[in-house]
Amino acid sequence: MAAAHVSRTKMKLGFMALLLFFVFFLDLACARLSSASRQKLQVHKHLKRLNKPPIKTIESPDGDIIDCVHISHQPAFDHPFLKDHKIQMRPNYHPEGLYDENKMNTESSERVNTIHQLWHVNGMCPEDTIPIRRTKEEDVLRASSVKTHGKKKHKSIPMPRSVPKSADPDIDNESGHQHAIAYVEGDKYYGAKATMNVWEPKIQQSNEFSLSQIWILGGSFGQDLNSIEAGWQVSPDLYGDNNTRLFTYWTSDAYQATGCYNLLCSGFIQINNNIAMGASISPVSAFRNSQYDISILVWKDQKEGNWWMQFGNGYVLGYWPSFLFSYLADSASMIEWGGEVVNSEPDGHHTSTQMGSGRFPEEGFGKSSYFRNIQVVDKENNLKSPKDLGTFTEQSNCYDIETGSNSDWGHYFYYGGPGKNQNCP
Ligand SMILES: *[C@@H]1O[C@H](CO)[C@@H](O)[C@H](O)[C@H]1NC(C)=O
Ligand SMILES: *[C@@H]1O[C@H](CO)[C@@H](O)[C@H](O)[C@H]1NC(C)=O
Repeated sequence: MAAAHVSRTKMKLGFMALLLFFVFFLDLACARLSSASRQKLQVHKHLKRLNKPPIKTIESPDGDIIDCVHISHQPAFDHPFLKDHKIQMRPNYHPEGLYDENKMNTESSERVNTIHQLWHVNGMCPEDTIPIRRTKEEDVLRASSVKTHGKKKHKSIPMPRSVPKSADPDIDNESGHQHAIAYVEGDKYYGAKATMNVWEPKIQQSNEFSLSQIWILGGSFGQDLNSIEAGWQVSPDLYGDNNTRLFTYWTSDAYQATGCYNLLCSGFIQINNNIAMGASISPVSAFRNSQYDISILVWKDQKEGNWWMQFGNGYVLGYWPSFLFSYLADSASMIEWGGEVVNSEPDGHHTSTQMGSGRFPEEGFGKSSYFRNIQVVDKENNLKSPKDLGTFTEQSNCYDIETGSNSDWGHYFYYGGPGKNQNCP
């Protein structure tokens, strides 16, 4: 009896020693796990969150995988405020236009062509699904962390001189960002539209980007700036290649905690099964050759409060619910159109990253990049020509802008540039 008792105690002790031994090694292993593998675990969790189970999958020639995801399973519905949201399948209002774009293109002497997305050559998404560009592990690994994936790395908003300087020096003078933009301010805006030709600007370094877009801005240029952005971009860091891609962006706190590109966080609700955010646009314009342009319209449904986006003349993509925003829940206070590049060269020097076509505005049609039929949406839901269109560029010797107007193109501008050149060190 006693012997059995002793041996049981011994066994217990031995077992505990063994346990401690294991715990010790488990700790060591965990410590190692925490650096490399924990990041991997985080990345996989992030990918699982972003990549919803598809109903159909389409491989694009550019290497993208397009997942057709059921409309009610899209990333937006991960948002706690959207748990019981009833999808609005169409806007209550559509702005009345100044121009009939379909007619205009065929009658104009300056012929332009409409564009499609590259993945369409290999299939389309069925009804009741939306196409989502699948995020790959390497897409996330190119970001500095899971948290920054899909966000803007630098706060950067083009700051026309007329705007009072804010208290935030980061926003006031964002190192390395160069713009060439046109803008309106001083009124309440309920949307904006433009048609822009699409190019494939050369990016010198992979941490730089070049984009052309519309900014819908609300609030002051402080910590709580609201912004909705849409256009085309080349961004090796975000997409892993030099292709020109359709993109959207939103933030309600000046690029800090909220918002992201495309569908890389929950917010934007997509209803369209033809157009994928972040997918390559093809073909693009060529120098002294065919010109291709896209139209983008962003407007507020003043009944529901949501901000809608339309691509081309027929594709209503979806909407940003009003609750995402503070100032933009009411209206926009400023609209900007134009180009932005990141220049990673310090001390006032420039890389040769191109904006737009990489040509200066004075070269004109077929050579320079343009925005035409620039319009804003007023309170009565009408598309109007912009009043008092201002322009802004940090260094016009590197990237410049020239505005004009005529009956065919309404208000328009040519913009862009080569970056580094003999007048731009
Ligand atoms: C930004 O800062 C640099 C150097 O501090 C200065 O030379 C430049 O004029 C500033 N740009 C703007 C737009 O304020
Ligand atoms: C993008 O273009 C740059 C040069 O313009 C080149 O060095 C780089 O390899 C390209 N990146 C990819 C992913 O093709």
